[in-house]
Amino acid sequence: MGGPKVISRTATAAAAHGAVVARCSWGVLVLLLLSAVGTVQCLHSSATPAGLSEDFYAESCPEVFDIVAAGVALGTLTDIRLPASLLRVNFHDCWIGGCDASLSLDNTTTIFSEKFAAPNNNSIRGFNVLDAIKATLETVCPQTVSCADIVTIAARDSVALAGGQGWPVVLGRRDSLTSHFNQSASNGPDGLPSPFVNLSTTIANFAFRNFSATEMVTLSGSHTFGRARCAVVTPRFTNTKPFLLNDTNVIDPKLKAQLLKHCANASDPNLVINNLDQTTPNTFDNKYYTNLVKELGVLHTDQNLFSAQGANTGLVKLYGQKQNLFFSAFAEGMIKMQNLGPLTGTQGQIRLQCGKVNPSSSWTSSAESLLAVE
Ligand SMILES: *[C@@H]1O[C@H](CO)[C@@H](O)[C@H](O)[C@H]1NC(C)=O
Ligand SMILES: *[C@@H]1O[C@H](CO)[C@@H](O)[C@H](O)[C@H]1NC(C)=O
Ligand SMILES: *[C@@H]1O[C@H](CO)[C@@H](O)[C@H](O)[C@H]1NC(C)=O
Ligand SMILES: *[C@@H]1O[C@H](CO)[C@@H](O)[C@H](O)[C@H]1NC(C)=O
Ligand SMILES: *[C@@H]1O[C@H](CO)[C@@H](O)[C@H](O)[C@H]1NC(C)=O
Ligand SMILES: *[C@@H]1O[C@H](CO)[C@@H](O)[C@H](O)[C@H]1NC(C)=O
Ligand SMILES: *[C@@H]1O[C@H](CO)[C@@H](O)[C@H](O)[C@H]1NC(C)=O
Repeated sequence: MGGPKVISRTATAAAAHGAVVARCSWGVLVLLLLSAVGTVQCLHSSATPAGLSEDFYAESCPEVFDIVAAGVALGTLTDIRLPASLLRVNFHDCWIGGCDASLSLDNTTTIFSEKFAAPNNNSIRGFNVLDAIKATLETVCPQTVSCADIVTIAARDSVALAGGQGWPVVLGRRDSLTSHFNQSASNGPDGLPSPFVNLSTTIANFAFRNFSATEMVTLSGSHTFGRARCAVVTPRFTNTKPFLLNDTNVIDPKLKAQLLKHCANASDPNLVINNLDQTTPNTFDNKYYTNLVKELGVLHTDQNLFSAQGANTGLVKLYGQKQNLFFSAFAEGMIKMQNLGPLTGTQGQIRLQCGKVNPSSSWTSSAESLLAVE
């Protein structure tokens, strides 16, 4: 990857358009190799939710794409982990109660912030950059762009900035009035996918949102960059989590020794981190899949995609061989994920700051009502 560049909307949309075409022609190949699963992937693209569109801010804030792209690029100059972190914020936001920026809310007396739910606690990050982007947008186009849309664009730009392929984003989401702490903390299929469970439990978590096992394998490719705390890595070697017992637990012995050594002296296993991708740790590419074939998956659930009973080894190998196929399927999976449960129209609100619900019955809501009757 070269220096970070501002991603032009047109270029990204054009690249993503190519992806959609590639997806369906690849879909036929996937069909041949994977039988029925490939058909579903090709025939059903995810429908755009009513109220969302690519040109939602074309009149009210045409600068939105440049401002978000610049904010992500600037943040990445001093924090190479940022693109992976912002993609994870998007996933953990959308997976729980839809893409409504509920994850961005901070604690108050009435808000129990999702940031502290176990899967996010000590690991969710990137909000300083999202807040700075929001602050810029509030000066350029006040009370217009939702935090939920900022997170959505930032995730797309993060993938592209790290070497992956963009996709067209539809906009018009609004921000939640509350957080979903309990669901974020849930161990059930309604919660976030755990790194400790068996393959069928991971598949069930995705099925809960109507994502196929194929789409689960595809979206897991997000672990081609980013880090994992020792707290989520070492339990697989010690079976200290009951769900790990009798699960397939394959790993390259050298990598296992290296991870154990690196984590051994962690006085706090939340503070010591490991690269998820042993080959190209900061690049969005298909090395995640070639690593899995070599038993270099860092999380138990990563390696399950290739090693567990019932794993789709053919798809993992195929993505490892055909980066373009992975890229276009990933773009398609992200579009579907970013379409999860948006608030639209007059639901929710446009927050003034991403970490806070607007003061109730403030001038903001009356301004919004005025706009609504114009
Ligand atoms: C925020 O609230 C959560 C849930 O009540 C709690 O576990 C956490 O300790 C709080 N964090 C801070 C920094 O106050
Ligand atoms: C979040 O992590 C902190 C520090 O490790 C811990 O004290 C706290 O109990 C955790 N909160 C939750 C809700 O697990
Ligand atoms: C969240 O869970 C706690 C503990 O189980 C419960 O007391 C609380 O009512 C739940 N909150 C919501 C909003 O469901
Ligand atoms: C996977 O884990 C779940 C929950 O622990 C368990 O009920 C199920 O039997 C396991 N499936 C397999 C194939 O091991
Ligand atoms: C589930 O996904 C399939 C294929 O993507 C789609 O045809 C169907 O409408 C979806 N169902 C729901 C309830 O979203
Ligand atoms: C693990 O497998 C052993 C031998 O098959 C069995 O006795 C034991 O009950 C299993 N443990 C769990 C937690 O499934
Ligand atoms: C861990 O700490 C012990 C005691 O401080 C030290 O002897 C050992 O070399 C350390 N191991 C690693 C891998 O840093």
